[in-house]
Formats: sequence, C-alpha cells, structure tokens
Amino acid sequence: MPLRHSLALATVVLAFASVSSMAIAQQATTNDGVYTQAQVDAGRETFTEYCAACHETKFYQDIWPAWEGRSLKNFWFIIVGEMPADNPGMLYDEEYTNIVATILADLGFPAGDTPLDPNGNMEDILIAAP
Ligand code: HEC
Repeated sequence: MPLRHSLALATVVLAFASVSSMAIAQQATTNDGVYTQAQVDAGRETFTEYCAACHETKFYQDIWPAWEGRSLKNFWFIIVGEMPADNPGMLYDEEYTNIVATILADLGFPAGDTPLDPNGNMEDILIAAP
C-alpha cells in the first residue's frame, strides 16, 4: 500500500476510535458512582419506613434485569408515580431521590462525589448490572 494511503487509513481509524471513546465516556451507568453516601444516609430511614414493609432488597434484585439498559430517571419516575403502592406520591421528590440512592447502594453500586439529581443528568444514566 502506498504510504499516503496508509496514512489516510490511519487517520480514519484514529478519528473513528476517538469518536467511539467519546460516546462511551458520555454514557454514565449506575456503576459510575452516580449518588452520594450522604443521600443514602438521608434516605435509609424513609426507605425502611415507607418501602421495606412491602418489598426488600431481594425484590429489587429480581426486577433489576428487566430495568437494565433503561434510564435511571425512568426508574425514579415510576417510583414517584406509583410508590408507596398504598399512597403514591406522598413523599417529596428529594426523598424519592434519596430512596433511589439507597436502592442502588443495597444492590452493590458504588457511591461517588456527585449527588443523584432528577433535574440534572439522571435521564442520561443507564441502569446496568451491579
Ligand atoms: C403497600 C405495599 C407497597 C409499598 C409500601 C411499596 N410498594 Fe413498591 N410495589 C408494590 C406492589 C404491589 C408492586 C407491584 C407488584 C410487584 O411487582 O410485586 C410494587 C412494585 C414496585 C417496583 C417495581 C416497578 C416496576 O415497574 O418494575 C418498585 C421499583 C417499587 N415497587 C419500589 C417501591 C419503593 C421505592 C417504595 C417506597 C417509596 C415502595 N415500592 C413501597 C407494593 C408496595
């Protein structure tokens, strides 16, 4: 292959590689430390009082595969709209957010430095396997 062709090919390959690594870098998942320990500390009591009576960690482990690949905002939104089943929507948004952080912690996902925020980038966080 003439040199100028291999250079052109190398340029194309490099350009492609950087585009795909950018795409990967932008797509955060639940494994990337998307909640803080402080949110879990704040949410634990609410979670125990308003959620644990009807389902515990095993329940979330069982439903998790069906949620993989979907947005974490979606998961938050369903909980806000439907839970607790005997009084949906009774909690503040912030309490629901702390509850989602608590569920992530119980499933074994790591905490990080940036709080989970339904008005932030939660839409772009993909649910992954723990
Ligand atoms: C009075 C009982 C009760 C309480 C309290 C309750 N749930 Fe539920 N929850 C249910 C029932 C019933 C279902 C649907 C049937 C099922 O999947 O077992 C459900 C389903 C769910 C689902 C699955 C949604 C889906 O579509 O995959 C999640 C997540 C959930 N609950 C979270 C919570 C959280 C978080 C709380 C506390 C804020 C809570 N629940 C409180 C009874 C309850």
